Amino acid sequence: MFFITTAIDYTNGAPHIGHAYEKVLTDVIARYRRLCGDEVFYLTGVDQHGQKVQQTAEKEGVHPATFAKKKTKLFLNLWKKLGLRYDGWAETTDDRHKACVQAILTDLQERGELYKKAYKGFYSVRQEQFLTDRDRNESGEFGPEWGEVVEIEEENWYFKLSAHAAWLKDYVASNPDFVIPGFRRNELVGALANSAELDLCISRPKERLRWGIEFPFDPDFVTYVWFDALINYISFAGYLAKDDAGLPDFDGTWKTGRPVHVIGKDILVPAHGIYWPSMLHAIGFTDEQLPQILVHGWWNIKGEKMSKSLGNVVDPDELADKFGVDALRYYLVRDITTGKDADFDLDRLVMLYNQELANELGNLCNRALNMNARYCGGAVKTGGETNADDIELRKSLTTVTADYRAAMDSYDIAEGLKAINRHVTACNAYAERNKPWELAKDPANQPRLESVLAHLVESLAHCALLLSPVLPEPAERIAAQLRVDNLMDLQLDDLKWGIIPDGHQTGKPKPVFPKIVIEESE
Ligand code: ME8
Ligand code: MG
Repeated sequence: MFFITTAIDYTNGAPHIGHAYEKVLTDVIARYRRLCGDEVFYLTGVDQHGQKVQQTAEKEGVHPATFAKKKTKLFLNLWKKLGLRYDGWAETTDDRHKACVQAILTDLQERGELYKKAYKGFYSVRQEQFLTDRDRNESGEFGPEWGEVVEIEEENWYFKLSAHAAWLKDYVASNPDFVIPGFRRNELVGALANSAELDLCISRPKERLRWGIEFPFDPDFVTYVWFDALINYISFAGYLAKDDAGLPDFDGTWKTGRPVHVIGKDILVPAHGIYWPSMLHAIGFTDEQLPQILVHGWWNIKGEKMSKSLGNVVDPDELADKFGVDALRYYLVRDITTGKDADFDLDRLVMLYNQELANELGNLCNRALNMNARYCGGAVKTGGETNADDIELRKSLTTVTADYRAAMDSYDIAEGLKAINRHVTACNAYAERNKPWELAKDPANQPRLESVLAHLVESLAHCALLLSPVLPEPAERIAAQLRVDNLMDLQLDDLKWGIIPDGHQTGKPKPVFPKIVIEESE
């Protein structure tokens, strides 16, 4: 089984384009693996606890549970709109998850991995956090941005993170594919080389924070939000579950193959690269049982970070309404290299959709089906007269399919799409060269005409299947027009020349990718 998860999104705000990217990227990977014939479990969800959620709820004058529920709806609705096909939904207020977090805390306590300690330090009441010397300004004081600063002494629970530091360094060094792509792994290696090997404070006193999972053996404390959230990857996979029917069958020994966690670059160090493997190691996971971390980059706006204060946050819900889900899904994985950052640019969204989908693929679909109807009565004839140009076109498809698979296997969706587009462009150029509309003028050319159209129709069927992980609905629309009912049930290994049998009747073309027209006034 291919078990793939995404970071769970904080419910202190509304979903933005970065969240949408991560979920669509993962959806594309999951759909691609299904196309390869893998059994897939795609888990995603929301991170509902913590100080930020409690604070925003307080501002709105509602209970954090009510607030988190309302925000969770926004995510659920958007994922539905964007056509995500996931198998598991993780909400950290779920009883299954709470029970698992508490069981892990108890287990760690019994293993001697936790201790309680008093910490004395300066605390900002406004920001609700402990300050360190790094928070002092040039004159050595805590500036006005911290509000009232008091010295307090507070007890908390600590996880012996430092006890796993040597193991982690060794693990990361000897498992180069723990974090991909490689340049993101280097960030973790760098961080580990400079790490101070501190322990991790994993509790918050209830006087300060109520909105969290209670410590089973010390009810005055709740669990630190990251410690809680990371555990979703195994709690919703059935770890320590009494009833794990339908889950990826995880009980400490993966029967599922190595899971892949898809996360953004900001949460590799320390959360997923340091805390999480150390936690898993502490509860008894072997090195072979650790996940792989796929780190993606960020969508920026004109080179700047998207942020509420800059007022440049892009709302995926609005974009989907305005430009369509197909254009949005396509753009989100087409104009960024997995691992790197990119600029979110609406002109490019429109340009890439219009150029690559409406003009190239849409046009190919339209002309192939139209001409097949007009010149061959809608029947594909595979026994026509073949020449060297046909052989070249078949070669293009073979090369492109191999390029596509190599790119998709390494999570490089943009390259996978570019490969498909190379064949679509080759098909349109082939049509221009062979001019079926000219051939049709003389009945003596019929065998040649049939071969040209058969090559275009066959190519379309292959391209539709290759495109289906990114654009499942348009792929189905193409399959329906081709009248190949089972096209979407095929797997990649089934893609050999000859999907369309001799005499197959194709249907009528309907625009699959209506062009996006931007009104002058905008
Ligand atoms: O970090 N472009 O939640 P979150 C691309 N709850 N991805 C982006 C992005 C951008 N501009 N901005 C954010 C959390 N992301 C925690 C995760 S997992 C156990 C807990 C990505 O809502 C970000 O990198 O702040 C992260 O992977 C995801 O969105 C959720 O971010
Ligand atoms: Mg964040």
